[in-house]
Amino acid sequence: MNFHIMTLFPDMIRRGLETSILGRAKEAGYISIDAVNIRDYTIDKHKKVDDYTYGGGAGMLMQAQPIYDCHKAIVENIRKEKEGANPRVIYVTPQGKVFDQSMAREFAREDDLIFLCGHYEGVDERVLEEIVTDYISIGDYVLTGGELPAMVMIDAISRLVPGVLNNSDSAETESFQDGLLEYPQYSRPEEWMGKKVPEILLSGNHAKVDEWRLEQSKLRTKERRPDLYEKWVLEHPEVPKKKRRKK
Ligand code: ADE
Repeated sequence: MNFHIMTLFPDMIRRGLETSILGRAKEAGYISIDAVNIRDYTIDKHKKVDDYTYGGGAGMLMQAQPIYDCHKAIVENIRKEKEGANPRVIYVTPQGKVFDQSMAREFAREDDLIFLCGHYEGVDERVLEEIVTDYISIGDYVLTGGELPAMVMIDAISRLVPGVLNNSDSAETESFQDGLLEYPQYSRPEEWMGKKVPEILLSGNHAKVDEWRLEQSKLRTKERRPDLYEKWVLEHPEVPKKKRRKK
């Protein structure tokens, strides 16, 4: 999986994604991170990439030309190895569809993904119309730039790429995989500050442990994310209603 990030701050992207699991995944070749500086593509002699907004208004806007040429160079590069490739271009913006686990799963199936990180007051609409395929937000709040949202998405997508996590189980069982939050977990010691690990987890009965974990996941989701719980119930009509009410 190859990530190509169009940004004015390539170092922020490189540093943010070089540690821990993603750093290792990069070293091992499961993912690649290609942070490209939009400024390298401006034809302005002062290396300018932004200008005032037509019609007035506060702040500067990122101009179309450097972004368009940057995108063109990235796509040409990809096509050297993959003829006719037409990678998706994600513009991270609070105006986009809100990112979630199912979108992460969908994006993880791509070979190449291009991200466009905006800054200043935004980006000239014309270049967005030309190159963007997906407008994605990471939540209903406004950040100063698109780098952090792009990194959040790259992290969530990468961990679903085969080989990135050591244990292929953990990508499957964690929160949201089945639309529920993860159950509580415990490690040694068996008793800490007077609190004991639930008996069932020490029983060695895997079927019972699985049953308990599913129950806990449902309880936790109902309590902490009733919106997700309602959705899960609708998507699992096989669970009898009477049983549902008891929880
Ligand atoms: N850029 C600024 N705020 C953002 C957000 N919430 N999501 C994605 N991109 C953004």
